[in-house]
Amino acid sequence: MNVLDVMRTGPVIPVIVIEELAQAVPLAKALVAGGVRVLEVTLRTAPALEAIRLIAREVPDAIVGVGTLTRPQDFKDALDAGAKFGVSPGLTPAMIQAAHETGLPLLPGVMTPSDVIAARLAGFSELKLFPAQQAGGIGMLKALGGPFPDVTFCPTGGVSVENAPDFLALPNVACVGGSWLAPKAALVAGDWDRITALAKEASALKAR
Ligand code: 3PG
Repeated sequence: MNVLDVMRTGPVIPVIVIEELAQAVPLAKALVAGGVRVLEVTLRTAPALEAIRLIAREVPDAIVGVGTLTRPQDFKDALDAGAKFGVSPGLTPAMIQAAHETGLPLLPGVMTPSDVIAARLAGFSELKLFPAQQAGGIGMLKALGGPFPDVTFCPTGGVSVENAPDFLALPNVACVGGSWLAPKAALVAGDWDRITALAKEASALKAR
């Protein structure tokens, strides 16, 4: 699967923070049951890599990826754990090298036109606009569409079920990312029905 395939499977990529390893598989199953198959497990907590490993093994319908990639050494570990793709909040030369060396399909984060130029020069034309709302939201994406008509975005940061349709209506947006699908309170409570309901609502959204 390449990054565009991942994006088109969306149209919502849940940004997941796993505090307890035991949450990983039930959460993944709950999201998949609601029609959300692409899962971004962020490297923000100790169990993240093991969570990816478990989901990859035990939830075959999930397409699990790694999020919050910031260190080049994490690329190989994520790939070994079973990650099918990676998402990063930004992009550095060392990360470009790690992506090329490992072959992990990467959706890198950008926030400015110069970031877009640098990412595209490195071979990336599917990009995460991060943090999307703070970067200018809908207006920013429309403006970027002028000089960069060949770039497809996944806006993430400040996207909600309410404003997602406006983002998804843009011609240069293929999917959105957001943490609203896996709220901490529901994970702590083990309220998997709530997660499935949120996933159903999200998977009913349509990209253009
Ligand atoms: C993140 O990296 O936490 C994502 O941007 C999620 O942002 P959100 O909580 O605004 O959806």
